[in-house]
Amino acid sequence: MSANLQTKAITAEDIRARKGKEPIVSLTAYTTPMATLMDEACDFVLVGDSVGMVLHGLPSTLGVTMEMMILHGQAVARGLSRALMVIDMPFGSYEEGPAQAFHNAARLMRETGAGAVKLEGGVEMGETIRFLVKRGIPVMAHIGLTPQSVNTLGGYKVQGRDAGADAVIADARAVAEAGAFAVVLEKVPQALADRITSDIAIPTIGIGASAGCDGQVLVVDDMLGMFTAFKPKFVKRYADLGQAAKAAIETYAAEVRARSFPAPEHVFADAPATKD
Ligand code: KIV
Repeated sequence: MSANLQTKAITAEDIRARKGKEPIVSLTAYTTPMATLMDEACDFVLVGDSVGMVLHGLPSTLGVTMEMMILHGQAVARGLSRALMVIDMPFGSYEEGPAQAFHNAARLMRETGAGAVKLEGGVEMGETIRFLVKRGIPVMAHIGLTPQSVNTLGGYKVQGRDAGADAVIADARAVAEAGAFAVVLEKVPQALADRITSDIAIPTIGIGASAGCDGQVLVVDDMLGMFTAFKPKFVKRYADLGQAAKAAIETYAAEVRARSFPAPEHVFADAPATKD
Protein backbone atom coordinates (compact mmCIF):
# COMPACT_ATOMS: atom_id res chain seq x y z
CA MET A 1 0.00 0.00 0.00
CA SER A 2 1.42 3.39 -0.89
CA ALA A 3 1.64 5.97 1.90
CA ASN A 4 0.19 9.44 1.85
CA LEU A 5 3.47 11.34 1.57
CA GLN A 6 1.85 14.74 1.93
CA THR A 7 3.87 17.01 4.24
CA LYS A 8 1.89 17.76 7.41
CA ALA A 9 1.51 21.40 8.43
CA ILE A 10 3.89 21.09 11.39
CA THR A 11 7.45 19.98 10.63
CA ALA A 12 10.33 18.72 12.76
CA GLU A 13 12.01 22.10 12.32
CA ASP A 14 8.87 23.82 13.68
CA ILE A 15 9.14 21.61 16.76
CA ARG A 16 12.85 22.44 17.15
CA ALA A 17 12.00 26.17 16.92
CA ARG A 18 9.61 25.84 19.88
CA LYS A 19 12.54 25.50 22.32
CA GLY A 20 11.79 27.62 25.39
CA LYS A 21 8.48 28.82 23.94
CA GLU A 22 4.86 27.61 24.23
CA PRO A 23 4.83 23.99 25.51
CA ILE A 24 4.77 21.28 22.84
CA VAL A 25 1.78 18.92 23.11
CA SER A 26 1.99 15.29 22.06
CA LEU A 27 0.21 11.96 22.48
CA THR A 28 0.72 8.54 20.98
CA ALA A 29 -1.74 7.18 18.40
CA TYR A 30 -1.99 3.86 16.59
CA THR A 31 -5.26 4.14 14.62
CA THR A 32 -6.95 6.54 12.19
CA PRO A 33 -9.91 7.51 14.45
CA MET A 34 -7.66 8.36 17.41
CA ALA A 35 -5.24 10.31 15.21
CA THR A 36 -8.19 12.29 13.81
CA LEU A 37 -9.34 13.16 17.33
CA MET A 38 -5.94 14.56 18.35
CA ASP A 39 -4.78 16.22 15.11
CA GLU A 40 -5.99 19.68 16.15
CA ALA A 41 -4.81 19.61 19.78
CA CYS A 42 -1.40 18.00 19.34
CA ASP A 43 1.75 19.45 17.78
CA PHE A 44 3.15 16.02 17.05
CA VAL A 45 1.61 12.57 17.20
CA LEU A 46 3.88 9.67 18.06
CA VAL A 47 3.27 6.25 16.54
CA GLY A 48 4.96 4.67 19.54
CA ASP A 49 6.22 1.13 19.80
CA SER A 50 4.08 1.08 22.95
CA VAL A 51 1.51 -0.17 20.40
CA GLY A 52 2.89 -3.64 21.10
CA MET A 53 1.84 -3.54 24.74
CA VAL A 54 -1.22 -1.32 24.41
CA LEU A 55 -2.97 -2.84 21.38
CA HIS A 56 -1.31 -6.22 20.81
CA GLY A 57 -1.00 -7.47 24.40
CA LEU A 58 2.77 -8.01 24.24
CA PRO A 59 4.65 -8.06 27.58
CA SER A 60 7.17 -5.40 26.43
CA THR A 61 8.04 -3.38 23.31
CA LEU A 62 10.72 -5.88 22.29
CA GLY A 63 8.39 -7.94 20.10
CA VAL A 64 7.30 -5.02 17.93
CA THR A 65 8.27 -5.40 14.25
CA MET A 66 8.82 -3.03 11.32
CA GLU A 67 5.65 -4.43 9.74
CA MET A 68 3.57 -3.55 12.84
CA MET A 69 4.98 -0.01 12.89
CA ILE A 70 4.30 0.46 9.18
CA LEU A 71 0.70 -0.78 9.43
CA HIS A 72 -0.09 1.48 12.40
CA GLY A 73 1.87 4.37 10.88
CA GLN A 74 -0.21 4.19 7.71
CA ALA A 75 -3.40 4.20 9.78
CA VAL A 76 -2.30 7.22 11.84
CA ALA A 77 -1.20 9.15 8.74
CA ARG A 78 -4.74 8.90 7.34
CA GLY A 79 -6.03 10.77 10.41
CA LEU A 80 -3.55 13.66 10.37
CA SER A 81 -3.54 16.81 8.30
CA ARG A 82 -1.87 19.21 10.73
CA ALA A 83 0.22 17.53 13.43
CA LEU A 84 3.70 16.20 12.70
CA MET A 85 3.80 12.40 12.68
CA VAL A 86 6.81 10.86 14.40
CA ILE A 87 7.27 7.09 14.21
CA ASP A 88 9.26 4.85 16.55
CA MET A 89 12.04 2.67 15.19
CA PRO A 90 11.35 -0.76 16.71
CA PHE A 91 13.88 -2.80 18.69
CA GLY A 92 16.49 -4.38 16.41
CA SER A 93 15.86 -2.04 13.46
CA TYR A 94 18.68 0.49 14.09
CA GLU A 95 21.16 -0.66 16.77
CA GLU A 96 23.60 -2.43 14.39
CA GLY A 97 24.82 0.85 12.97
CA PRO A 98 24.07 3.87 10.79
CA ALA A 99 23.52 1.92 7.54
CA GLN A 100 20.91 -0.40 9.09
CA ALA A 101 19.27 2.57 10.78
CA PHE A 102 19.10 4.55 7.52
CA HIS A 103 17.65 1.61 5.60
CA ASN A 104 14.84 1.11 8.13
CA ALA A 105 14.19 4.78 8.90
CA ALA A 106 13.86 5.52 5.17
CA ARG A 107 11.45 2.58 4.83
CA LEU A 108 9.32 3.82 7.75
CA MET A 109 9.12 7.31 6.25
CA ARG A 110 8.57 6.11 2.68
CA GLU A 111 5.83 3.61 3.54
CA THR A 112 3.95 5.67 6.17
CA GLY A 113 4.55 9.32 5.31
CA ALA A 114 5.98 10.04 8.78
CA GLY A 115 7.87 13.32 9.04
CA ALA A 116 10.43 12.03 11.55
CA VAL A 117 11.61 8.91 13.36
CA LYS A 118 12.30 8.37 17.06
CA LEU A 119 14.99 6.06 18.38
CA GLU A 120 16.16 5.17 21.87
CA GLY A 121 19.66 5.82 23.17
CA GLY A 122 22.09 8.62 24.00
CA VAL A 123 25.88 8.77 23.59
CA GLU A 124 25.97 5.37 21.85
CA MET A 125 23.47 6.60 19.22
CA GLY A 126 25.27 9.87 18.43
CA GLU A 127 26.96 8.58 15.27
CA THR A 128 23.71 7.03 13.99
CA ILE A 129 21.67 10.18 14.63
CA ARG A 130 24.28 12.30 12.82
CA PHE A 131 24.27 9.89 9.85
CA LEU A 132 20.47 9.96 9.54
CA VAL A 133 20.10 13.73 9.94
CA LYS A 134 22.80 14.43 7.34
CA ARG A 135 20.86 12.23 4.92
CA GLY A 136 17.47 13.90 5.34
CA ILE A 137 15.89 12.01 8.21
CA PRO A 138 14.74 14.14 11.17
CA VAL A 139 15.43 12.26 14.41
CA MET A 140 13.78 12.58 17.80
CA ALA A 141 15.95 10.99 20.48
CA HIS A 142 14.68 9.17 23.59
CA ILE A 143 16.83 8.96 26.75
CA GLY A 144 16.43 8.27 30.47
CA LEU A 145 14.27 5.17 30.75
CA THR A 146 14.51 3.54 27.34
CA PRO A 147 11.94 0.69 27.41
CA GLN A 148 13.67 -1.30 24.64
CA SER A 149 16.59 -1.73 27.09
CA VAL A 150 14.41 -2.97 29.94
CA ASN A 151 16.49 -6.15 30.23
CA THR A 152 19.80 -4.36 30.70
CA LEU A 153 18.31 -1.60 32.87
CA GLY A 154 16.88 -4.21 35.26
CA GLY A 155 13.27 -3.03 34.92
CA TYR A 156 11.30 0.15 34.28
CA LYS A 157 13.20 2.18 36.90
CA VAL A 158 13.73 5.91 37.31
CA GLN A 159 17.01 6.80 35.56
CA GLY A 160 19.56 9.45 36.55
CA ARG A 161 19.24 9.55 40.32
CA ASP A 162 22.37 10.60 42.27
CA ALA A 163 25.54 9.50 40.45
CA GLY A 164 23.47 8.41 37.44
CA ALA A 165 22.64 12.03 36.57
CA ASP A 166 25.93 12.65 34.74
CA ALA A 167 25.24 9.83 32.29
CA VAL A 168 21.79 11.20 31.40
CA ILE A 169 23.24 14.71 30.96
CA ALA A 170 25.94 13.28 28.68
CA ASP A 171 23.24 11.47 26.67
CA ALA A 172 21.21 14.68 26.28
CA ARG A 173 24.24 16.65 25.09
CA ALA A 174 25.29 13.87 22.70
CA VAL A 175 21.92 13.61 20.93
CA ALA A 176 21.57 17.40 20.69
CA GLU A 177 25.08 17.75 19.24
CA ALA A 178 24.38 14.90 16.79
CA GLY A 179 21.47 16.86 15.32
CA ALA A 180 18.32 15.44 16.93
CA PHE A 181 15.49 18.00 16.67
CA ALA A 182 14.04 17.08 20.09
CA VAL A 183 14.60 14.55 22.85
CA VAL A 184 12.15 12.55 24.95
CA LEU A 185 13.15 12.39 28.63
CA GLU A 186 11.42 9.41 30.21
CA LYS A 187 11.23 8.74 33.95
CA VAL A 188 14.03 10.98 35.18
CA PRO A 189 13.96 13.08 38.37
CA GLN A 190 12.29 16.47 37.99
CA ALA A 191 15.39 18.49 38.92
CA LEU A 192 17.50 16.60 36.37
CA ALA A 193 14.89 17.16 33.65
CA ASP A 194 14.88 20.89 34.43
CA ARG A 195 18.67 21.02 34.35
CA ILE A 196 18.83 19.25 30.98
CA THR A 197 16.06 21.48 29.59
CA SER A 198 18.09 24.60 30.37
CA ASP A 199 21.37 22.96 29.29
CA ILE A 200 20.60 21.82 25.74
CA ALA A 201 19.47 23.77 22.68
CA ILE A 202 16.74 21.37 21.51
CA PRO A 203 13.27 20.84 23.04
CA THR A 204 12.90 18.27 25.80
CA ILE A 205 9.68 16.25 25.73
CA GLY A 206 8.87 14.89 29.18
CA ILE A 207 7.12 11.69 30.18
CA GLY A 208 7.54 11.17 33.90
CA ALA A 209 10.03 14.07 33.92
CA SER A 210 8.98 17.68 34.70
CA ALA A 211 6.37 20.31 33.82
CA GLY A 212 9.41 22.47 33.04
CA CYS A 213 10.22 20.41 29.94
CA ASP A 214 9.61 22.07 26.58
CA GLY A 215 6.74 19.65 25.94
CA GLN A 216 4.95 16.54 27.20
CA VAL A 217 3.94 13.20 25.73
CA LEU A 218 1.67 10.48 27.12
CA VAL A 219 0.45 7.13 25.83
CA VAL A 220 -3.12 7.92 24.77
CA ASP A 221 -4.60 4.67 26.06
CA ASP A 222 -3.07 5.39 29.49
CA MET A 223 -4.49 8.90 29.78
CA LEU A 224 -7.93 7.84 28.53
CA GLY A 225 -8.11 4.90 30.95
CA MET A 226 -8.26 2.33 28.14
CA PHE A 227 -5.04 0.51 29.06
CA THR A 228 -5.40 -0.57 32.66
CA ALA A 229 -3.01 -3.53 33.06
CA PHE A 230 -0.83 -1.16 35.15
CA LYS A 231 -0.59 2.59 35.69
CA PRO A 232 2.80 4.27 35.96
CA LYS A 233 2.94 7.12 38.52
CA PHE A 234 3.52 9.66 35.74
CA VAL A 235 0.19 8.89 34.05
CA LYS A 236 -2.76 11.16 34.77
CA ARG A 237 -6.11 9.63 33.83
CA TYR A 238 -8.09 12.32 32.02
CA ALA A 239 -10.99 9.94 31.34
CA ASP A 240 -12.15 6.44 32.18
CA LEU A 241 -13.12 5.18 28.75
CA GLY A 242 -12.23 1.58 29.62
CA GLN A 243 -14.88 1.50 32.37
CA ALA A 244 -17.40 3.26 30.12
CA ALA A 245 -16.78 0.68 27.36
CA LYS A 246 -17.12 -2.24 29.78
CA ALA A 247 -20.42 -0.88 31.13
CA ALA A 248 -21.75 -0.37 27.57
CA ILE A 249 -20.77 -3.93 26.57
CA GLU A 250 -22.49 -5.36 29.66
CA THR A 251 -25.68 -3.38 28.94
CA TYR A 252 -25.65 -4.60 25.32
CA ALA A 253 -25.18 -8.23 26.43
CA ALA A 254 -28.06 -7.95 28.92
CA GLU A 255 -30.38 -6.39 26.28
CA VAL A 256 -29.56 -9.09 23.71
CA ARG A 257 -30.30 -11.79 26.29
CA ALA A 258 -33.57 -10.04 27.23
CA ARG A 259 -34.50 -9.59 23.52
CA SER A 260 -34.91 -5.84 24.14
CA PHE A 261 -32.27 -5.11 21.49
CA PRO A 262 -32.83 -4.55 18.61
CA ALA A 263 -35.81 -2.29 19.39
CA PRO A 264 -38.43 -1.26 16.77
CA GLU A 265 -36.31 1.76 15.72
CA HIS A 266 -33.37 -0.53 14.83
CA VAL A 267 -35.23 -2.90 12.46
CA PHE A 268 -36.63 -2.53 8.92
CA ALA A 269 -40.23 -2.63 7.71
CA ASP A 270 -41.23 -4.42 4.45
CA ALA A 271 -42.18 -1.10 2.84
CA PRO A 272 -40.45 1.91 4.44
CA ALA A 273 -42.54 5.06 4.85
CA THR A 274 -39.35 7.11 5.21
CA LYS A 275 -35.72 6.63 4.14
CA ASP A 276 -34.01 3.83 6.15
O1 KIV B 1 6.37 4.10 22.50
C1 KIV B 1 5.98 5.09 23.12
O2 KIV B 1 4.77 5.27 23.34
C2 KIV B 1 6.96 6.05 23.59
C3 KIV B 1 6.48 7.11 24.53
C4 KIV B 1 6.23 6.50 25.84
C5 KIV B 1 7.42 8.24 24.59
O3 KIV B 1 8.08 5.97 23.25
